[in-house]
Amino acid sequence: MSNNMMFYGCDVAELVKEYGSPLYVMSEDDIRERCREVKSVFIDKYPNTRAVYASKAFQTLEICRIVQQEGIGLDVVSGGEIFAAIRAGVNPADIVFHGNTKTYGELKLALEENVGTIVVDNLSELALLDELAAEMGKVPGIVMRITPGVDSHTHEFISTGQEDSKFGFAIQEVIDFATEKAMKSSHLDFRGFHFHVGSQLHDNMSHLMAVDKVLDMLTVIKEKYGYVPRELNTGGGFGVHYAGDPERTHVSYFMDPVMEKIDAYFAKTGDPRPMITIEPGRWIVAEAGITVYEVGSVKTNAAGRTYIGVDGGFPDNPRPALYDAKYEVKAVEKYDEPYDQVVTVAGKCCESGDILIWDAELPKLERGDHIAVLCTGAYNYSMASNYNRVPRPAVVMVSEGKAHLSVRRETYEDLIAREL
Ligand code: LLP
Repeated sequence: MSNNMMFYGCDVAELVKEYGSPLYVMSEDDIRERCREVKSVFIDKYPNTRAVYASKAFQTLEICRIVQQEGIGLDVVSGGEIFAAIRAGVNPADIVFHGNTKTYGELKLALEENVGTIVVDNLSELALLDELAAEMGKVPGIVMRITPGVDSHTHEFISTGQEDSKFGFAIQEVIDFATEKAMKSSHLDFRGFHFHVGSQLHDNMSHLMAVDKVLDMLTVIKEKYGYVPRELNTGGGFGVHYAGDPERTHVSYFMDPVMEKIDAYFAKTGDPRPMITIEPGRWIVAEAGITVYEVGSVKTNAAGRTYIGVDGGFPDNPRPALYDAKYEVKAVEKYDEPYDQVVTVAGKCCESGDILIWDAELPKLERGDHIAVLCTGAYNYSMASNYNRVPRPAVVMVSEGKAHLSVRRETYEDLIAREL
């Protein structure tokens, strides 16, 4: 028995030997478990509800298929994500298409592919979609994205629900014009409303405040237009465990009180409660992923700081640089040795900001050892770049102690393949 780090029944050192470094390793079992949890604590608990996975967190054909098999739909935010979802065989009826600036081409693609729901972000998009749907003889299902005007306690770059946001309609705008426009269109099936308050939340307050605002808005809209929605989408945002954060949140911690408010409201009005949709992204995949790196140079600078330089960094995980995100790290071969060194794990880019982890506790490491950064399943692979012409890592999927290559490593040839 080796003392190597194990991940869902696989020896991580063996994985890098076979598939190379750096390496994204994703646990299919964990993704499926999270989907099943969403199903048991939300979809099966409350009638007329559904979940769509916010695939921007990590979209590959294989992950699209896994979540579809688990009875979860797909939230997409671009033509590229629609294209891949369709290629993966996702039922278009289960796709929800988001975006604050959808292009003409993307809307056309969504209509051609009969994407089930388009989340309309603003008046100009509403007009464009109405025109395009008429031209193409389609009647897409739409919901309107509302900016509920609540602040969520998360990094400002991933907070979306505040009034001064690039996303969605202001509530007053919905009351004054947008509802009437959408109701009058014979080319749009106006099903209801959407909001999303922010990401990586460990507090349900902003969800609850947003629900109150949206329900108040519904009262006004019903009085003014007699309109009652058939769908309400309360977005995603459920938090996971990064270094220094609490444990992964429970979906029921957010959705039980949300459902209580919504159910109570519709019990009072006597109208049927609309279908409730949620859009977890990070929560489904974050903890299912680790990134394995090989240690290159190890050095201590004049200020006394010891750097462990690794063969990846900003190109495969820009989150520390962008959001000051904090990660936990483990030694792969020296997993069981004392974590008695305080070191800074530096990425390989020519960029001082490319530091994966400041002051990490690790065993004494040397060139050729491997480390694994935890909780990298969300917004790492999907946000990866080729900065410094660094090829993107491969993705390996593990399940029940077996591994298979899901996405091959980029090659240097891939890097110049589009250059004419
Ligand atoms: N629904 C909508 C409309 C969204 O805008 C988002 C995320 C989600 C659902 C999924 O949120 P989640 O459940 O994953 O928190 N790149 C950033 C995160 C950006 C999130 C954008 N919207 C990061 O790495 O933290």
